[in-house]
Amino acid sequence: MSDYETFLLDGRPVRFERGQTILEAALAAGHYIPNLCHHPEFKPHGSCKLCTIKVNGRYGSACTVKAMPGQEVSSDTPELNGNRRVLLQMLFVEGSHFCPGCEKSGNCALQALAYDLEMLTPHYAHFYPSRPLDASHPDVLIDFNRCIMCELCVRASREVDGKNVFALAGRGVASHVVVNSPSGKLADTDFALTDKAAHICPVGAILPKRVGFAVPIGSRTYDVDAISTLAERRATEEA
Ligand code: SF4
Ligand code: FES
Repeated sequence: MSDYETFLLDGRPVRFERGQTILEAALAAGHYIPNLCHHPEFKPHGSCKLCTIKVNGRYGSACTVKAMPGQEVSSDTPELNGNRRVLLQMLFVEGSHFCPGCEKSGNCALQALAYDLEMLTPHYAHFYPSRPLDASHPDVLIDFNRCIMCELCVRASREVDGKNVFALAGRGVASHVVVNSPSGKLADTDFALTDKAAHICPVGAILPKRVGFAVPIGSRTYDVDAISTLAERRATEEA
């Protein structure tokens, strides 16, 4: 039996390797499915739900559902994109995502996805959280009000840096990222600017100090290409 089989994504055949998820196979084939908590180097987390698709008529997360031969997957539909806009709106109001004052603007996956999916307003009432910012570390600061709890920093610190600097704590609306030190401060950990976890945050929550607004408008990651176009182009270049 061949190592490769296919499923249908929005009517187009997508080749996959056994063991790949629908998201992995789609991205590798140059077909973008929106995602925020996915990272190719880490096990799926399944928290953001932006990658929600329909597989043979049933909802599922593209980052956790394995690709199977003959599946009929829909992703780029008015219904699913409408649901994704609602999820983005929820993320925007739960935190303090005031892009004009955020250094990550133009390089932020949350903002880029909101542009790509044409989220025109936040729609819901803002929560206006006021979680204290942690600027205790000499080289890195954390603004917890911009965290979308994708757990990428947790996974990178644990699995790549071997440090366990971050964790998720609390339940429901009180869930939040915490720093694993007796004081709860980043300065009291062995966290370093060279850690993978210092550079993996897809939004403006974990930021290096003293390098703000270094890239001119027009040259930032998502200024030229939409996040979907960029992902599709990178897949073509890698193929
Ligand atoms: S701080 Fe950044 S990387 Fe960590 S969970 Fe929050 S959004 Fe994700
Ligand atoms: S990318 Fe699948 S749930 Fe976040």
